[in-house]
This record gives sequence, C-alpha cells and structure tokens, in this order.
Amino acid sequence: MATGKARKFMSWLDERFPASKFLDNQLLKYYAPKNFNFLYFFGSLAGLVLVNQILTGIFLAMHYKPAAELAFDSVEYIMRDVDWGWLLRYLHSTGASLFFIVIYLHMFRALFYGSFKKPRELIWLFGMVIFVLLMAEAFMGYLLPWGQMSYWGAQVIISLFGAIPVIGEDLALWIRGDYVVADATLNRFFALHVVGLPLAIVALVVFHLTALRTVGSNNPDGIEIKAHKNEQGIPVDGIPFHPYYTVKDLYIAGIFLAIFAFIVFYTPEMGGLFLEHPNFDPADPMKTPEHIQPVWYFTPFYTILRAIPSKLGGVLAMGAAIALLFFLPWLDRCPVKSIRYRSGVFKVALALFVVSFFVLGILGTKPVTTTTTVLARVSASIYFGFLLLLPIFSARERTKPVPERLTEPVIPLAKREGRHWRLIERGIHAVKASEPYRRTEAKLHQQIERLKNFGYK
Ligand code: HEM
Repeated sequence: MATGKARKFMSWLDERFPASKFLDNQLLKYYAPKNFNFLYFFGSLAGLVLVNQILTGIFLAMHYKPAAELAFDSVEYIMRDVDWGWLLRYLHSTGASLFFIVIYLHMFRALFYGSFKKPRELIWLFGMVIFVLLMAEAFMGYLLPWGQMSYWGAQVIISLFGAIPVIGEDLALWIRGDYVVADATLNRFFALHVVGLPLAIVALVVFHLTALRTVGSNNPDGIEIKAHKNEQGIPVDGIPFHPYYTVKDLYIAGIFLAIFAFIVFYTPEMGGLFLEHPNFDPADPMKTPEHIQPVWYFTPFYTILRAIPSKLGGVLAMGAAIALLFFLPWLDRCPVKSIRYRSGVFKVALALFVVSFFVLGILGTKPVTTTTTVLARVSASIYFGFLLLLPIFSARERTKPVPERLTEPVIPLAKREGRHWRLIERGIHAVKASEPYRRTEAKLHQQIERLKNFGYK
C-alpha cells in the first residue's frame, strides 16, 4: 500500500523534477569500487561537518553581534544565557578543528592512492580551492569572538599582505577597512564568514562531487574499474553506492559523532588547541599577547612563514607551500597511482613529507628558539624538496606490476606484509573464537533466518 503510494508520488515528482534520475546517478546506479577502505570515509565525513557548521552557524548568528563593542560579550551571552547556546558554540568551534582533521586525512588519502591523477585532476583542483576557502572561512570566523588571539592573530596575518611590494600596504588597508583591525574589519569578516564564503564552499562541493561522479572514484589499488564492464555496461568490480556505501558511511558517521560528542562534552578547548586560552580575554588593541600563534590547523604554513628571515620571503614561501599543492597532478609523473605498487623511494619520500608536515605543525605552536628555527628550516626543506623533486624521481620510478582487476575487497590480512598485520590477525582470530562473539554471531544468524521467513532476501 505504502509502496504503491510512494511509487505514485515518485512518478508525480519525476514528471516535474528529475528526482529518480538524480538518485540513480548519485546513489542507486553509481557503481563505486568494491575495495574502499577506511580512508574513503573522510569525504562523506567532511560533508557531515560542513552541514554541522552551517546549521550551528545559523543559530549562533541569531544571537551574535558583529560590532567591536558587543562581539565578545555577545559570545559570553551565548555561552551563559542562551538556551543550549554553549552547545551550539562548542559544536561549531569543535567542528572547525574536526573539519581540518578530516580534510587533511582526505587530502593525504589522495596522495597515497594517486587520486589527483588523470582523469581526476579537476576533482583535486576543486578540492584545493575548497581548502583555500576553508582556511579563509576559519580565519575570518576566528576574529568574530573578538578575543585577544582573534584580534592579534588577524592583525599579524593581515599585516603580512603589507610585505607585497608596491600594492602591499594599500591591500592590507583595503582588507582591514581601517589602519588597524577594527569594527570595519569585524563587520566585513562577519559578512564573508556567514554568507560569502559558505556559499562559495557549498557551490564548490557541488562541482567537486559532480566531477567525481563524472569520472568515478579511484580506489586503494588505483585501478580504473570502468575498464572492465559487463554486458549491461556495469563495472564488474563496482558495487552500487546505495545501499553498500551509504550503510558503511552511516556506521562511520555514528562513530565519528560519538568522538565529536566526547570532545564537545568533555574537552571542548582541547587543552588550548581548539580554543586558545588568550581568547577568553576581550580584544585589547593596547596589549599584545606574549605569543601570537594561529589555531593548530594553520601552524604548518605559519611555521614556514616564520622559518624565513625576511618578511616578504616568508610570505612567498607560505604562499608557495599551498600553491604547489595545486600542481600535484602534474608534478607527480609516475603512471602508477596507488602507493601499493609504487617504488620504495616514493614511499620513503612521502613518509618524510608527511612527517615534515607534522613537525611544522607542532613547531608552529611553540615559541621561536634557535632549535625550533633550525628544525623548521629542515622540515620546510623536506616539504618543498618532496614537491619540487617529485617530477624528477616520479618519472623514473621502479614500480611493481599493477593487477588488471580488483580481485579482493581488501587485501586479506594473511597476505599483507609486516609483523603488525600478523598481530592484528591473531587478535581478530582470538575475538572470533571467543564465546560472546560466537553467541552474538549465532543470534544474528537466527535473526537473518527469521527475516528470510518474512520474505526478506
Ligand atoms: C568541504 C570539503 C570537502 C568535501 C565535502 C568533500 C567530499 C568528497 C567526497 C564525498 C568524496 C568521495 C568520497 C571519498 O573519496 O572520500 C570526495 C573525493 C575526493 N576529494 Fe573531496 N571533499 C572536500 C574537500 C576536498 C579537498 C580539500 C581535496 C583536496 C585538495 C579533495 C580531494 C578529493 C579527491 C582527489 C577525491 C577523489 C578520491 C578518490 O576517488 O580516490 N576534497 N570528496
């Protein structure tokens, strides 16, 4: 009965709007590789956090006052007097940090499996524009609480534009709307943070996903599943996105939300990492905080800026560290996509790159000393060394033979190299042999049999 009504409603809708076509293209008839691993969850998690940021942001904007005289107090008012205001604010501030964790892992995944390579260059480029806009969004959002770090962080970063020859000073003045960070700056950052940038980010996510659906997803083997199709034109190594990956994504979203809730309820400041302590003091243009540092997700790039003695050199190096990432599809010249079949040289180089990025990030949270400066320069050299030498060593890599087809959902544990896999395998065997596991499994089988009797397949 209900199915009949639903079908009627769908055909009514389809005559007016391509609803079924959309669902088919995006979910039901979108065939994704069958071997996605946990690194493939971060795209949908990024979507989830984006929705969280927009929804909590809308409600925060209902109580926030974008004026230098009122901003700090209005945030305190949200925290203390608005019903559930503290929850809204912590969901938003924690969401910002989790957004960057998810996005960095999403980007590293692309590096591991060569997901930026032909034919996915545009997915990567749209992603990079999203990344730059996200940084702008987070930077402008951080000014809004109008605390000490909001104020001085903005002052330092905007003044960097002043280092650009000829137009620099005028550009910084134009961005601030005043000679120092002031009410005019807060007003324009508010407008961009709540309207301009979110609109641009959402539009780019639509482009990102449209490009992804056009060429199809890459996978941990880096093999194009479209190369092997059956008579109906369906990739034989693909499975429909719905229900297989929607269920998997929902399951992971549950785990992710549990971690999210834990942080929000128990450690929303994350020891000063997610919400910096000086920001609990109202902005004071007459008093500079002892250490001005950006939030953790900007610190790798901030360290590169600080590692160079000249201001202009630092600004250029920081810009280059981000700009070079745009060119990855053309810097990496190895025809093999996945790290699984690439040379040891690439694996070591990528590991060094990832480590250097972490070290740069950690250094950015520490005050400058001779040791941190040396470490920052070494790490920055590794970071740039990887990107600049990539075209040379990737062109002559000794790769392993890439299989023609995905034969297994994931490489079975027994076939993986490395002692830690043996340990994990033994652990899983022990769990499977345990009494509670067997009992649960038997119960599940019973349930499945019962459902089959009701006609479910
Ligand atoms: C709001 C931010 C973003 C959202 C919501 C988003 C969403 C997604 C989703 C849902 C997927 C498919 C699932 C997956 O492969 O994980 C995907 C794939 C991809 N994304 Fe993003 N993304 C975002 C930002 C970025 C950024 C910043 C980059 C890189 C600079 C990027 C690069 C890629 C690439 C290369 C793929 C294809 C992966 C493959 O097929 O192996 N994305 N994205």
